[in-house]
Amino acid sequence: MSINEIRDDFPFFKDNKLIYLDSGATAQKPQVVLDVMHDYYTKYCANIHRAAHGLGNHATKEYEDARQKVADFLNAKKKDEIVFTSGATSSINLVAYGFVKDNFEHVIISGLEHHSNIIPWQITEKALHVIDSKEDLSVDLEHFKSLLKKYPKSFVTLTQTSNAFGITLPIKEMTELAHQYGCKVLVDAAQSAVHTKVDVQDLDADFLVISAHKLYGPTGIGALYIKKDLHELCKAFQGGGGAIKEVTYKNTLFMPIPYMYEAGTQHIAGAIGFAKALEYIDTIGFDFIQKHEKELIDYAYENLLHVKDVITYGDTLNATGNISFNIQGIHHQDLGILLDKQKVQVRVGHHCVQPTMQSLGVEGTVRISFGVYNTVKDVAVFFAALKRSIEMIKA
Ligand code: ALA
Repeated sequence: MSINEIRDDFPFFKDNKLIYLDSGATAQKPQVVLDVMHDYYTKYCANIHRAAHGLGNHATKEYEDARQKVADFLNAKKKDEIVFTSGATSSINLVAYGFVKDNFEHVIISGLEHHSNIIPWQITEKALHVIDSKEDLSVDLEHFKSLLKKYPKSFVTLTQTSNAFGITLPIKEMTELAHQYGCKVLVDAAQSAVHTKVDVQDLDADFLVISAHKLYGPTGIGALYIKKDLHELCKAFQGGGGAIKEVTYKNTLFMPIPYMYEAGTQHIAGAIGFAKALEYIDTIGFDFIQKHEKELIDYAYENLLHVKDVITYGDTLNATGNISFNIQGIHHQDLGILLDKQKVQVRVGHHCVQPTMQSLGVEGTVRISFGVYNTVKDVAVFFAALKRSIEMIKA
């Protein structure tokens, strides 16, 4: 398989000359994903889990097969450990209200968390403890241990890979440590799962979240893994059709997980497209993805070293999927505008990690993030455009 063959799978790249280096925000979608969603809407559009007719049964089968595909992708033991949600943010909020709210007082997070892994704990009024980061932005494991000692049986929730800096946390080791102190652990794999194999059993995660749109799938759908042993402790927090066994005016008897958490009509086409996107990733394979993306990171790193006045953050050479930087004396937003004018799409700003930015003493950065379809040429074009942008500003 070549990168050109992969690019041909994505209609986005057919008719435009844009250099897309913003897959960390959302990835482009291959035609196969669009096709299966189109098929659902045009050939067997019906609601799921409700109908007696064949069309409804067909849709239900595809939706439940999609759940099985997500379970297989994450190596979950059972498909009922997978709840479809609207994405990683709604999954974390679900865990906050359905599990953490009544069971924990203390929540431990890393210093690299996305706002979506900070705000739910503030809304649910938990005592938030942030693990120190070292100078290279890696997590300070000694400080983590001291927090675990001080707050055993707390809820630990960690990003696997930082969306803003590409830093990957030693999640397996941290989960093991947290379990030794009686904690439960949520892994936010929204940013990592497209770059590396995520195995919930190997990580021994209690909860794990992913978003389809960063995995070459549709927007508005994601999955929450909930370890089977914890199902009994999870409570309903959002009521509606499809989630129940029986309703009276006095009480409601809920269905088990995952259905308890899938009230209302779901994003059926989204689930089907999500599963196809995961199949697509499987056909490429993580060996190929990692090798190729490492080449992109290495090439970007080499080029960055030659940019005058560049400021990088963390261990850029070993970053996963994205690299963030600033240029001394130039505002990142100005660079974003000039790069866009040269048809190069990157994300600039705080990347929804304002507290991390505050700790670095910056307002934001320029971030380039990769998908498997990016080429070394894309990176070269980006650096040429960056050079021109800097010259224009400094002229
Ligand atoms: N969380 C997404 C990003 O990092 C939107 O850009």
